[in-house]
Amino acid sequence: MDLNIMKFLIFTIFLQCTFADNWCTRVVHRTYNVENDDGTLQPKNITRNERYCCEGYYLNDGDCAPKCVENCPNGKCVAPGECVCNEGYNLDVESQICQPVCSMDCGFGKCSKPEFCECFEGYTYGLSSIVCNQAICKEPCQEFSTCVRPNECECMEGYRSIANNTKCEPICETGCPNGVCIKPNMCACNLGFSMNFTLRSCQENICELPCPEHGYCEVNGRCDCIDGYIISMFTTGPKVLCEERLPHALKLLAIFLACTLVFAIIIMIIVKCMTRKVDYEPQKVEEKYKIKHTAM
Ligand SMILES: *[C@@H]1O[C@H](CO)[C@@H](O)[C@H](O)[C@H]1NC(C)=O
Ligand SMILES: *[C@@H]1O[C@H](CO)[C@@H](O)[C@H](O)[C@H]1NC(C)=O
Ligand SMILES: *[C@@H]1O[C@H](CO)[C@@H](O)[C@H](O)[C@H]1NC(C)=O
Repeated sequence: MDLNIMKFLIFTIFLQCTFADNWCTRVVHRTYNVENDDGTLQPKNITRNERYCCEGYYLNDGDCAPKCVENCPNGKCVAPGECVCNEGYNLDVESQICQPVCSMDCGFGKCSKPEFCECFEGYTYGLSSIVCNQAICKEPCQEFSTCVRPNECECMEGYRSIANNTKCEPICETGCPNGVCIKPNMCACNLGFSMNFTLRSCQENICELPCPEHGYCEVNGRCDCIDGYIISMFTTGPKVLCEERLPHALKLLAIFLACTLVFAIIIMIIVKCMTRKVDYEPQKVEEKYKIKHTAM
C-alpha cells in the first residue's frame, strides 16, 4: 500500500559523477503520491542512486562505450569523439570519419579502399590500370581520334575532324601543294616532286630531258617509270622508255610454258635414243635379214 504508485514526478539531481569504467552515478529523488489509510493522498520523497553511462558514452553490450561519429567506420573509437583510423585510412577533419587514402589522383573515380580507385560511370582505368582516366566510348573511335568523354571521340592533337565529324585528318600548315598531308605537318610529295626542307614544300624535280609517257622525274634528275611500268630493255642513250611490267600471272605462265617445252624436248631425245637402241637388238636384225631374205 505504501508504495502504491499513483502518479509521479521526477526530480533528477546530479550529485556525483565517477568516470571509473565510464559509468557515472547520480542520486535520483522521486516524489510519489502515496495513499493514506483514510484514502487521502500524500506526497512522499524517495531517494536512490542510479548508474548510467557518462556523457559521451553509450550503453553497448552492458558496457559504456565511447561515442564517435557513425561509430567510427574503418577505425576505432577510443574516446568520445576520438576516432583512431585503421592503416590506410586518414581522419577527414570535416566529417570526422576515417577515409581511405590513395597516393594517386583517382581522376574520374573515387578512392574507395586504400590505394584503390573506383571509377565513375563511363570511365575506366587507363594505361596505368590503377587510375580512372580513360573515358569509355561504346562505339570505337575512328582512326586518329580518342575517347575524351563518355561516348565522345575527339580528333588527336594535330588532326581535325572532316566529313561531318566522321573522320579525322592530319593538319599541315602549308596545305601540302603538290603533295598530300600524311601526318601533322608532314607532306608526302606527288610523283615528280620532292620535299625542299628549307621551303618546307614539295618542289618539282628537274630532269634534263623530258620524261616519257608513264615516266616521271626523280629527285636525282633521272627519269623513272610509274608503278606497273619498268625501264624498257630497248632504252638506249639518255632517253628513257617505259614499258608495261608483265603481270605476275603472265610471268608464271611464260615460265611454265618454257619448262614444258624443255621437258618435251628432253622426252623426245630419250624416246629417240631408245628406238635407236632397239635397232641393234640381234633378234630384230635377224628379222630384218629374214625379211630381206624372203624378199630375195
Ligand atoms: C520532497 O522534495 C521536495 C523537493 O526536493 C520538497 O520541496 C518537499 O518538501 C519534499 N517533501 C517531503 C515530504 O519530504
Ligand atoms: C551531319 O551530321 C548531322 C548530325 O549528325 C546531320 O544532321 C547532317 O545531316 C549531317 N550532314 C551531312 C552533310 O551529312
Ligand atoms: C630549296 O629551295 C631553295 C629556294 O628556292 C633553293 O635555294 C634550294 O636549293 C632548294 N633545295 C633543294 C635541296 O632543292
